[in-house]
Amino acid sequence: MNKKGFHLAPAASIRLNRRKCVCGIETVIFLCVFLFSLSANAQERVKNVSFHDGMVVCATPDAAKVGLDILKKGGNAVDAAVAVQFALAVTHPEAGNIGGGGFMVYRSARGESNTLDFREKAPAGASKNMYLDSAGNVIPDMSIATHKASGVPGSVDGMVEAYNKYGKLKWVELVQPAIDLAHNGFKITKRLASDLNRNRAQFVKLNTGKSYLLKDSDWKEGDLLVQEDLAKTLIQIRDKKREGFYAGTVADLLVSEMKNGAGLISKADLENYHSVWRKAITGNYKGYKIITMPPPSSGGIALLQLLHAVEKYPLHRWGYNQDSTVQLMVEAERRVYADRSKYLGDPDFYKVPVDSLLNPVYLDARMKSFNWNTATPSTSIEPGNFAGYESDQTTHYSIVDKEGNAVAITTTLNDSFGSKIFVGGAGFLLNNEMDDFSAKPGVPNMFGLVGGKANSIQPGKRMLSSMTPTIIEKKGKLFMVVGTPGGSTIITSVFQTILNVIEFDQDMQQAVDSKRFHHQWLPDVVYQEKDAFSSSTQTKLEQKGYKVVEHGPSGRVDAILVNKAGYLEGGADPRGDDTKLGW
Ligand code: DON
Repeated sequence: MNKKGFHLAPAASIRLNRRKCVCGIETVIFLCVFLFSLSANAQERVKNVSFHDGMVVCATPDAAKVGLDILKKGGNAVDAAVAVQFALAVTHPEAGNIGGGGFMVYRSARGESNTLDFREKAPAGASKNMYLDSAGNVIPDMSIATHKASGVPGSVDGMVEAYNKYGKLKWVELVQPAIDLAHNGFKITKRLASDLNRNRAQFVKLNTGKSYLLKDSDWKEGDLLVQEDLAKTLIQIRDKKREGFYAGTVADLLVSEMKNGAGLISKADLENYHSVWRKAITGNYKGYKIITMPPPSSGGIALLQLLHAVEKYPLHRWGYNQDSTVQLMVEAERRVYADRSKYLGDPDFYKVPVDSLLNPVYLDARMKSFNWNTATPSTSIEPGNFAGYESDQTTHYSIVDKEGNAVAITTTLNDSFGSKIFVGGAGFLLNNEMDDFSAKPGVPNMFGLVGGKANSIQPGKRMLSSMTPTIIEKKGKLFMVVGTPGGSTIITSVFQTILNVIEFDQDMQQAVDSKRFHHQWLPDVVYQEKDAFSSSTQTKLEQKGYKVVEHGPSGRVDAILVNKAGYLEGGADPRGDDTKLGW
């Protein structure tokens, strides 16, 4: 352990040679060369630094620092998660939120697991056909960029619930860092500057009140973003916990914002919102125990189905993104997403056949139609307009504390900056999660996903999600904490990251960096990140009838691995500003 209290894994430790100082030009040159190579070496090694006492991997450097500070103060993983959630609401307005919702998977150091569903709910005034016109067609953008696009937010209640059950430090200590970031401001990254500039026109169009995310000229990297209204809202939450958001001034402002735009969320909707503890769903992959999110996320079930489908094949021998590996994974994905469209929805409203969907006999039978010689065609439903990659703006964070408690949280406003509508005077953005419902059977949502009865709109129901926060055990001990944004691609990105480590021997950072691909049944297309496939893999796939299409970056996986030496190793996705910090 060094002075700062973090451990360097044996392979990463840097040994300084002790030499006596000898004067002369040769010595100076030697020292310069030595120091240069040492610093290059150190930078290289920093990538592989691993830690012992705790780690936070999340979407922004400022929020990661907030989380690490909480761990260092003696907070546990849940304390750090609460602080990170609020810090992300300030520093990552694209997806960090108090106006959205999410899911938490928790595993204690002793091995107990639990999950918290703080997904948004349809307001009481919502109805099955609310996004259809008189001819029964879906009205474009109504579930995306209007006041009616928002579900009742769950994030604040979720944080309070998680804290009440597991938190250790004082609540105020967990919210205060976010207040400071909002009040004092923080320097924005190049990416946030460009996201804000790109969405400027929409912010102006959809809002009447003041928005701190708007300024007269373009935002630039390094500009200070101060959000006074958001700071005031966070102060209410700091001082009154749940009541600071679901009642009082903030609730009044939210409801009056709804009235401005013919939105549906009422005082009663806010009062009635409660997150739900749900038993984790678990499965096995080659002896690893997978602990993941049950419905209303489809992510956990889909992940277990996918892992089962590929388990008996020699992926390790075939190798990462080789043609057989990709073909098998794509065929599994095709079948799993078809199931998702029919059987998955909010379990409080629809009986999701979890046991049948995870029954090995059923899963083996699903793969029987798989033919190595040719792609299995997806059914002939109109392909959706798949747009998930450009707006992959949910966010995931993974945290492990000193004792070994672990938290995986994925949280979202759905689209980038949600509905892009702010609650006037309260400084936070509203989600457009209602688009995750199936507005009409067979009509794709913004991620090209189709659905039916299981995911139809009903008052008080939670919309189906793909978020897949997941924790993995190996031999009864913590092994990995993982998750990502990416809409419909969330499930396949988590699937690939897990296989990259378990099958393809990649370390955590490599597994996150590695190029990804995705298939979701409809449209019948294999999406690949640029150069995910070698030209030989692509040719072989195309010869068998697969349509391979290049798409932009897919997901932002933030993950932690307990490596062979027992140290924590992070993977922070270079596709975003994601940051890993440990001690
Ligand atoms: O819950 C879901 O599945 C979506 N609302 C997630 C949205 C998302 O990941 C945004 N990024 N593309």
